[in-house]
Amino acid sequence: MKTGSDQKKRTTDDLLERRQKHFAGSFLMYQSPVEIVRGEGVWLFDRQGTRYLDCYNNVASVGHCHPRVVEALSSQAAVLNTHTRYLNDKIVDYAAHLAGTFPEGLDVCLFCCTGTEANELAMRIARTVSGQNGAIVIEHAYHGNSTLIGELSTCTYSPTDLPSHVATIEPPNTYRGSFRRGETDLAEKFASLADIAIKQLQDREQGVAAFICDAIFDTQGTLDAPADYFRQVYQKVHAAGGLCIADEVQSGFGRLGDHMWGFEHYDVIPDIVTLGKPMGDGHPIAAVVTSRDIADDFMQKVIYFNTYGGNPVSAAVAEAVLSVIEEEKLQQSARDVGFYLRKQLDALAGKHPLIGDIRGSGLFIGIELVKDQQTMEPAFIEAYTIADQMKDEGILIGSTGRFGNVIKIRPPLVFSKENADLLTQKLDKQLLEIVK
Ligand SMILES: Cc1ncc(COP(=O)(O)O)c(C=O)c1O
Repeated sequence: MKTGSDQKKRTTDDLLERRQKHFAGSFLMYQSPVEIVRGEGVWLFDRQGTRYLDCYNNVASVGHCHPRVVEALSSQAAVLNTHTRYLNDKIVDYAAHLAGTFPEGLDVCLFCCTGTEANELAMRIARTVSGQNGAIVIEHAYHGNSTLIGELSTCTYSPTDLPSHVATIEPPNTYRGSFRRGETDLAEKFASLADIAIKQLQDREQGVAAFICDAIFDTQGTLDAPADYFRQVYQKVHAAGGLCIADEVQSGFGRLGDHMWGFEHYDVIPDIVTLGKPMGDGHPIAAVVTSRDIADDFMQKVIYFNTYGGNPVSAAVAEAVLSVIEEEKLQQSARDVGFYLRKQLDALAGKHPLIGDIRGSGLFIGIELVKDQQTMEPAFIEAYTIADQMKDEGILIGSTGRFGNVIKIRPPLVFSKENADLLTQKLDKQLLEIVK
């Protein structure tokens, strides 16, 4: 067994070697991975004490180790932690508080532990309630890692392996998609692709159980869909007897600034909403939110129980997170700081021809890099390299999108204008250096 002094002597490389031997799964970010040992607000610290500005982690929504969240977790853990089969006011109070942030009609919560589980449950509800089997998903989407949800996570496998109960539609990418800015009727054109998917599922005798979509299109490189896109797709899915699931695992809890939930940007009301990541500031809690009618219909036909989902400690943590978002006005801050950051990034776009497009809302921004403004050839090596070098400059960002050429900025919501200045200054420097 290793002693405390052995631990002090070992290097980050030793840890890497042991990880390679005993660990599988998640890939490590950056060519030379970072060993993070502490977090505070928007900052992460490595073993050597180097400080990194976290511009990537949306899970720590109210900031790393927020004292209110830490206090809620430890004090509830000292009193009681069971499951949701006893009456407990912490759980019910949180369910009521959370439901109160949704439009009327979305007022029932079912708790689970991860975004995957929330989407799995949402699909199960949609299949049970609709009596149909098929799912419409966006190309290159990610919704989770279970068997069913893995099949809906189209970014994780080849389009030729699509199961017969899954039909995909092209994302509404108005920068490089089939229909582009400057054309008329963009919403109608992109939404009409849902007609083809509906027909495919019907021809395969699957029917349409659900359309599931992430409002910020994270894995597609952050997209701003045409304003009427979701309303039109929802109409078509409802007409085919399916339910509409808004996956708010990325876009929820105020991140997009103007609203608490991503779907509100598009003025639609989904049948089912799924939540995760930012809900517990790092603690594993997730949820499905739906109407009483849909929940009752499902519960009459299926027994649903989740041992850990919504336990009193998770409920206390999630309540602290939601209260901090409200009391520290973090949604409004995401809007204001996001707007400020966006103005600075737009100025960089005027200066660096590598920047092809900037999209997103609030504190979720994608910067698409291209080798040539006309051909729009994706500059994915540049995006990857910039993310890597920014790490060496003390800024953590990532790259994403179908071609891996979109720089992803998605910091904790406590990100300030001062933090935005530092990020822009370092990004400016790297954009200059990469073309040298
Ligand atoms: C949009 C979206 N939905 C669902 C998930 C799955 O969440 P989890 O990793 O908590 O299972 C993710 C994870 O990245 C996601 O981005």
